[in-house]
Amino acid sequence: MGEVDPAFVQDPEHRPKLSIIEAEGIPLIDLSAINSPNSISDPEAIEGIVGEIGNACKEWGFFQVINHGVSSSKLQKIEAAARKFFALPLEEKRKIRRDMNNVLGYFDTENTKNIRDWKEVFDFNAEDPTLVPASPDPEDNEETEWTNQWPEYPPEMREACEEYAREVEKLALKLMGLIALSLGLPENKFDSFFKDQTTRIRLNHYPPCPSPQLALGVGRHKDGGALTVLAQDDVGGLEVKRKTDGQWTRVKPTPNTYIINLGDILQVWSNERYESTEHRVMVNSEKERFSIPYFLEPAHYTIVKTLEELINEQNPAKYRPYSWGKFMTHRKLSNFKKLDVENIQIHHFRV
Ligand code: OGA
Ligand code: NI
Repeated sequence: MGEVDPAFVQDPEHRPKLSIIEAEGIPLIDLSAINSPNSISDPEAIEGIVGEIGNACKEWGFFQVINHGVSSSKLQKIEAAARKFFALPLEEKRKIRRDMNNVLGYFDTENTKNIRDWKEVFDFNAEDPTLVPASPDPEDNEETEWTNQWPEYPPEMREACEEYAREVEKLALKLMGLIALSLGLPENKFDSFFKDQTTRIRLNHYPPCPSPQLALGVGRHKDGGALTVLAQDDVGGLEVKRKTDGQWTRVKPTPNTYIINLGDILQVWSNERYESTEHRVMVNSEKERFSIPYFLEPAHYTIVKTLEELINEQNPAKYRPYSWGKFMTHRKLSNFKKLDVENIQIHHFRV
C-alpha cells in the first residue's frame, strides 16, 4: 500500500468502494430545442424539456445536458490553461495562494468535513471584484471586495477563464429559467437574484493518489449555492448518492455534456420539492483528473427563504430565512482550518 498523510484518511464508513456501481439513471437531457439558432422555439419541445428537468430534479438532484450551447473551443481553451497552470512548480502556484484576506486563487490544503481533500484548486469569481460582507458576524454591516488573482503563466489564463465564465453563465441562467417553469413559476423568477452574483468557478486538479481506497478527491458534500454546472474530463471519479437507496453511484463521463446539480439554495427556495444531493470524488492511483465546476450563487445581500408561491398553511416554510453573504463568508473562512465541529449547513436553519 502506498503512503498518504493521515490528514487525508477518511473514516472507514466514508471510504470509497473500488468496485463501482455506474449510474444508469442519471438523466441525459437534450437542450437542442432551446438552443438551435434558426428554429423558432417550439413550445411543445420546451414543455418536454421542462418535464424532464422537473423529474430529474425530484429523483436525482443531478442530470446531464447535451446540445447545451456552450462553445466547445472555450472549454478546450480553459482546460488547456488549467493543465499548464497545475503543471507549474508548487512555489510558482503558491505566489497566488489564497489566504484569509483574499479567498480566491490557488489552494492545495482544503478540508471537506474536516478531512483533507486529495486535490489542488484555482478559484476565480465571475464578477471581479465581488462585493461581500467583511465578516460572518451578523452584527457587522461592513462590506469588502474579493478580487481575482491571476498567475503570470500561462499568459492566456485570465482570458480563457473570463471567456469561459461568460459562456457558462448563459447556460446556468437558462437552466434556472427551466427549473422555475418546472416549479410552476415564471421563467424569470430567479433572474433578479443573480444581478450582483457571487458565482465562483473552480479549476480542480486531482493528482494520482497512492491510496485511493483511503482518501477522496473531495469528501462527501452538497453544493451550497443555487446550481452547479460541471465539466469533467474522461477519467471519471464523481459519485452521487442515489436518492432511492443511498448507494454511491459513479457518474460515467459522457463526451460533450455538462453535469448539473442542484445546490442547497434551491432546496430552500423550493421548500424541498427539490433537494440538493450529496456527492464526492474518488481518486485513482494512475491517472490525474481535471474538472471545472461553475457554482451559480446569488448576490451576497440575498436573504435565502422559501418562495411565497410554494408555501401555504398546510405546507409552511421548512427553513428560517438566512443571509447568503454571511453563510458564504462563514464557510469560506472556516475552510482554511480543520474544525472540531461540523461547518455551517442549511439544516441549522431548518424549522
Ligand atoms: C466540487 C465537486 C466534482 C468533481 O468541487 O464541489 O463536487 O467532479 N466537484 O470534481
Ligand atoms: Ni460539489
